[in-house]
Parts: sequence; structure tokens; C-alpha cells
Amino acid sequence: MADQPDDHSTAPGGLENLLVEERRFPPDPAFAAQANAQPEMYERADADRLGFWADQARSLLSWSTEFTEVLDFSQAPRARWFADGRLNAAYNAVDRHVEAGHGDRVAIHWEGEQGEVRTLTYADLQREVAKAANTLGDLGVTTGDRVAIYLPMIPEAVIAMLACARIGAPHSVVFGGFSAEALYSRIVDAEARLVITADGGYRRGSASALKPAVDEALTKGETPVEHVLVVRRTGQEVGWTPGRDVWWHESVDAASAEHEPVPVEAEHPLFILYTSGTTGRPKGILHTTGGYLAQAAFTHLNVFDLKPETDVYWCTADVGWVTGHTYVAYGPLLNGATQVMYEGTPDTPHRGRWWEIIEKYGVTILYTAPTAIRTCMKWGEEHPAKYDLSSLRVLGSVGEPINPEAWMWYRRVIGGDRAPVVDTWWQTETGAIMISPLPGVTAAKPGSAQTPLPGIAADVVDEAGEPVPDGAGGYLVLAEPWPAMLRGIWGDEQRFRDTYWSRFPGKYFAGDGAKKDDDGDIWLLGRVDDVMNVSGHRLSTTEIESALVSHPSVAEAAVVGASDDTTGQAVVAFVILRGEAAEKAAAEGGDTAATVAELRAHVAREIGPIAKPRSILVVAELPKTRSGKIMRRLLRDVAENRTVGDVTTLADSSVMNLISAGLHTPK
Ligand code: WTA
Repeated sequence: MADQPDDHSTAPGGLENLLVEERRFPPDPAFAAQANAQPEMYERADADRLGFWADQARSLLSWSTEFTEVLDFSQAPRARWFADGRLNAAYNAVDRHVEAGHGDRVAIHWEGEQGEVRTLTYADLQREVAKAANTLGDLGVTTGDRVAIYLPMIPEAVIAMLACARIGAPHSVVFGGFSAEALYSRIVDAEARLVITADGGYRRGSASALKPAVDEALTKGETPVEHVLVVRRTGQEVGWTPGRDVWWHESVDAASAEHEPVPVEAEHPLFILYTSGTTGRPKGILHTTGGYLAQAAFTHLNVFDLKPETDVYWCTADVGWVTGHTYVAYGPLLNGATQVMYEGTPDTPHRGRWWEIIEKYGVTILYTAPTAIRTCMKWGEEHPAKYDLSSLRVLGSVGEPINPEAWMWYRRVIGGDRAPVVDTWWQTETGAIMISPLPGVTAAKPGSAQTPLPGIAADVVDEAGEPVPDGAGGYLVLAEPWPAMLRGIWGDEQRFRDTYWSRFPGKYFAGDGAKKDDDGDIWLLGRVDDVMNVSGHRLSTTEIESALVSHPSVAEAAVVGASDDTTGQAVVAFVILRGEAAEKAAAEGGDTAATVAELRAHVAREIGPIAKPRSILVVAELPKTRSGKIMRRLLRDVAENRTVGDVTTLADSSVMNLISAGLHTPK
């Protein structure tokens, strides 16, 4: 059974390093006493799952027409939640807070990379969103039309999304780092009528060009785009197509601040967000309004223990990714939170930039990605040590498995050994957090996402789709529909069914390998496409990476399975060194043989001889997508001596040249 992730606990060599993690962090009683999440939520949801979600949808959202029906799954796998209700997403995120007397509360503390500051209260946001919605109307956009948004991390990104939602025009946000080609294909696939962009944006001190990419995209072929609405951010010279192009500051600023939000059906499309599949063209993941908003609000409130009056929340994700949709644009605003939005990179102009921002705004809740945490580990504790981080009280992680080492560092160095860490598992497709500890309720285990949230039916199954017993591994599935689930792949019903629903009939297949420990807690083991088979033994890339990173000389590691004539696949590791090992390697002209030998032995010790990498390559950088995911596909190309494949989704495509060049330079 070639595809089956096996049961690592019984594998020869004892691949149990993640599961011998004995450290536990029970909730602090003082935290638990004030926590939003309560243990009874699990019982309540177990007893009546649909009733539980109906309660959340009613208590956390304002409906212009109350729903009477909770879930219709008769057309499975297409679900309809709260379908006879009507509501407006922007009204829920903004207007109702102003009506409730919170117009003066800060919604967004925006910080530019160079230290520029903008503060938007809920009243400001309401005015800006209403004006932008009027402009969209003036440009011919009506309910149901698609709008592409291609903006940097500036408040206009959130304003534009909410303006679309206000008139019921689904947005398709395209990450500002994507190429003209990628933008073009997304515009065409979604048939967008309008593109909202900026002249440029700031990243690492220089101005990137966005408008030129839009101009180029629109020359690649026929598109339905009628207008391009352009925010002036950098002031750089841009080309202009009269009649098509419109300045934001001329149109939106002059528009009326009076605008009636359009109530839409709960199942009205809210947005499309493209995400890459394992192969082929990107998939337009479709999310609708009522269910998505209900789960966004519920998870944001309970997983982060948000107290809207006192917390300052900061999610470092770009709005171009799903995390930026659910936990920058929608979740926090639905809950009336005050949040920080930061334009730039963590090391501009210095490596303490994030910690400086946390001190400045008194950030209490931080939500970021393991790759960022490991990068900060690599830079050293001295950077966060310069700032007062004592305001932090909840720390979140998302996007990839977090190795126990990074988890512990996050908790100790950033959280002062005090703030609970929540490792949140979810996907673009799930729309909102699905598996996570609840702060104040769950005794946390470093490296584990642990428990499906109340009302979420996640499980780990074997090849036949049967739940595995505690202590065993398999595939992560979702056995029941959930409110924020994707409603399809835009324009490709068949791909939707094939990708997610065909492997295990009746269950959603997430594409992740996972394991239940002896307590039944879930540990994510990475994508199943990243699982290796070495001499008939299944090895998880994550487990070996985790072992490597637990060595003091390693800052970051990526592991791939390279095809091997003898063993089927062989483990090939790419590591970035830190501290003395890095200095030594540099001083000795790149001779890393001793370190490599030591690391191979270390992995053998940590996991077992079977996991010992065939080769370990010391590199200066790892190829990452702009959302921070390591592109193992490219590393596999290098490991297998192939021409390196498509690098267009890399944050920095020159990284691959560096890695390939390093390999062929005799040491
Ligand atoms: C991975 C990001 C382990 C997983 C919200 C999933 C994680 C993919 C975690 C979705 C986590 C996300 N632990 N793995 N806490 N969170 N993943 O669509 O492989 O960009 O399938 O959504 O990221 O990535 P996406």
C-alpha cells in the first residue's frame, strides 16, 4: 500500500521523536478564570452540533433576516448553512460597532515599514468603506460582480475588501508579490470587472511596482476588466490608460459617505481566493457569507481569547493569504477588535522591528507562522530582549507544523513563559481554524494542534477511511460539514469533488498526514505528498526536520525524499546553520563536512538510523513561497539533479540559483 502513511510508533527505528514530547503546559488558573472559551463548549457541541453553530451564528452576527434552517447537506458535498437568512458582511464588521457606540474605538493601527502611522477608528472605517462602496457602484460594479484586489499591506486593502462585501461583489485578492502572469490568469478565471491596485508598495526599503504589473496583465489577452482603481501609495510614476484607470484619492475621497449595505443571502459568495494545488493551475477556493463569518468570529473570539475593549491584536499575515482574510479583514473586525496592521518585513529597518511594534502598541495577542519564529530564533534572542513584550498574553501559530523547539522558544522568549501558545491547524479551504488548543482550557503540548474545536469533526483515518486508534497515524479528514467550509472551486465542480471528496467517500480529505497520540491528541505531520518512503519505511519530512532543528547548530531545515535506486526514496536535508557552526563554516571556506557528519549522527540518535539523511546540504537560504512555505518540490529537483522547475511562486527566485550554484562549487 504505497500511499499509506504508516504507524510510526511501530516502525523499526522508533520514529517517535515528536511523540515522546512530555512537556505539558496546563492553563494558568487566573487565565482560565477570565477565558472566553469554556470546557462545556465541547459537550454542548457534541450533544447538538448544529444547535451549537446556530447559537454562534445568532449571537456573534447581526442578521437582517433571521435564518430558520441551519444546515442543508442534501446536495453534498456542497453545503448550505443558514441559507434562508440574510446579512451583510461589512455591516457586521463595521457599522454595527459604530451603532453600538464604539465608533471611537481604534479598528486599525497601521504602521508603515518606514515608521509612518495611520490610525483608523471604527467610525473612520465606516466612512471609508461607504465611500469606496459608492465608488465601486460608480464604476459599474454591482452585486455578484467579481473584483480583483492587488494591493500592498495598507488600510485600503481591508477597506477595498469590505467595500466589495458591502455591495455583495465577491473579491478575489491576489497577493501583491505575484507576477503579472499570475494576476492575469486569476482575473480571467474569476472574470473580474474591476481591479483595485496601488502604484506600488514598500518592501525592504524599496518601492515595488504594482500598477505596472496590472498594466502588463491586462495586455496578456482579453479580460472583462473595465476599470482599474489605483491607490497612490509610493508616488512613483505610473502609466495611465484614460477612461480605464481611476485614482482612488480622486474618486473615493470625493464619494458620498452615505451608503446602504446590501443584505445578501447567507450563501451569497463573499470571496474567491486562489491557492495552489499539488499540480496544475491554481484553484479558486469559493467562500460564502453567513457560515464563513460565523466561524471566523467564533474562532477569533475563543482561540485568541479576544477581549475587544482591552486587547490589541496583531496577525502578521498578508491579506493576500487566507490568514489575512479571516484573521485580519474579517474575524477581528466582526468582534470589534483593535488590531495592528504592518506593511513591511520583520527585519526592516532592523531585526527588532516586530518587537518594537509590540512594545509601541502594547500588543496582547500575536498570530504568526513557524517560519517567522524560526527566523527570529536564528537572528538571536538579543533582538526581542531589547523590548518590553510583557503585554503579550496569547501567542498563535499557523501555516505549517511547528516543531517543539520553535514552540518552546516562542513561549519562553516571546511569551515570557507565561502566554499560552495556540498551534492552529486549518487551510484556505476550511476558511477558519479547525484544530487548536483553547487557551484557558487545554493543557498545551509543544508541537501539537491537539483538539478539533467544538463543533468540528476532525479525525485521523487509515487507507480504508476507518478512524485509527490512539497512538497511530494516517490521513486527516473532516467527517462532518462545518460553517466556513469551501463551497467549491470556482468554475470547476468536478475538481472540487475529485480533490477533496473522492478519496474517502462522505469525508473531506485535507491532504495532511496526522497522528493521534496516546491521549488522542492530533499531531500534524505535513502534507501527505511530503511523506517519504525509505526502504519501505514511512518517514515524515516534519519529523526529520524537527530532529535537525533540535540540534544547536541548525537554524532551519527542509527535508525531501529523493528517488533512490536502492531504497526507493532517500532522505535529503537542506540546512541553514546558526551560531558557531555557521561562523566556522564561513571561516573555513565553506567546509562543513564535520558538521554534516555530526548532524547525520544526531538524526540517527533522535529518530533512528533509518531516518539518517543520505546527504545534508548546507545552504544560506531555503526556497519559500511568499506565504513562507518551503517549496520542497524545488529542493527535490535539486536533490535529484533535475532542472529546477517553476519558481514563479517563490518570494525570491534567486534563492534556487544560489542553492544550485553552491552544490556544484567544489569545496
Ligand atoms: C499546513 C493556511 C501543521 C497544512 C491557514 C495545511 C499546518 C496547509 C498548520 C494549508 C498547523 C496549516 N500545523 N500544518 N498549525 N496550519 N498547516 O491553505 O499542511 O495556506 O494543509 O492555509 O498548511 O495552507 P493554507
